[in-house]
Amino acid sequence: MKKVLITGASGGFGLEFAVQLEQQGYALLLHGRDKARLQLTLDALEHPERHSFLFADLSSRKETEMLIDSLVGSDLYGLVNNAGFGVWGGFAAKESVAQADVIRVDLLAPVMLAHAVLPCLIRNKGFMINVSSLAGETPLPYLATYAAVKAGMTFWSEAIRAEHQGEVRVVTLAPGPSPTGFRDVSGAPKGKGDVFSTTAKKVVSSSLQTLDAGGGYCVPGWRHQLLWCIQKITPRFISLALMVNYLKK
Ligand SMILES: NC(=O)c1ccc[n+]([C@@H]2O[C@H](COP(=O)([O-])OP(=O)(O)OC[C@H]3O[C@@H](n4cnc5c(N)ncnc54)[C@H](OP(=O)(O)O)[C@@H]3O)[C@@H](O)[C@H]2O)c1
Repeated sequence: MKKVLITGASGGFGLEFAVQLEQQGYALLLHGRDKARLQLTLDALEHPERHSFLFADLSSRKETEMLIDSLVGSDLYGLVNNAGFGVWGGFAAKESVAQADVIRVDLLAPVMLAHAVLPCLIRNKGFMINVSSLAGETPLPYLATYAAVKAGMTFWSEAIRAEHQGEVRVVTLAPGPSPTGFRDVSGAPKGKGDVFSTTAKKVVSSSLQTLDAGGGYCVPGWRHQLLWCIQKITPRFISLALMVNYLKK
């Protein structure tokens, strides 16, 4: 049975990836930090006996390396780089460690994981899905580090996709607002961007459709596509002037 590693499988998009990839017949390596939360994901699956858990705090280089070491011989077919979080608030007011952790979890760990398993994914003619964000399409005051990291994720993932066209299918997934644990973890104020909200189910199914089409840049659902169009046609100085007021708590 083909194996797929999903990072951040303990909730939100990760849980939905687990449900939909299991339906496609994969055996899942479910990564997280907390056994009880991962167990809730396993409880939502039809064939729990097919799947296993992997634990690592991806803000720790040591734990990320241990996770990579544990993958030796696992013959992966797919990697979903999904784990991530943001820190909402004024840059100067927020702890530097938390902001550095956003870079480690959302960008450094995916790059390290992908580099380690890419030869195997290529050998198996498999796939990689990198969960970026529409936050990576424009600078975002009060989410400055997160937006910068997701811009990096999008550029990195798209470049890898071009480098390995025909060898491995790569999806760069760029969702907008979606009702997951992300907002509570980031400390985001309620209601911002809700008009564009799209379900995790739709976000994940769109990315899997893009994967079926051979990979690509995926903005899921019409609401996120509308937001993306607005981002693309609005000059940066206007969007910054609007966002600095809108995104302030
Ligand atoms: N929801 C949105 O509006 C939205 C929009 C665009 C992009 N995204 C991206 O979607 C991805 C998934 O987020 P989500 O929305 O599903 O949020 P979520 O429900 O909070 O899930 C985040 C997942 O990442 C894991 N994670 C967080 N910090 C970690 C760390 N230090 N080490 C290992 N795992 C860690 C969490 O594990 P624990 O359970 O252990 O915390 C959880 O499984 C993220 O990359 C996020 O940036 C979200």
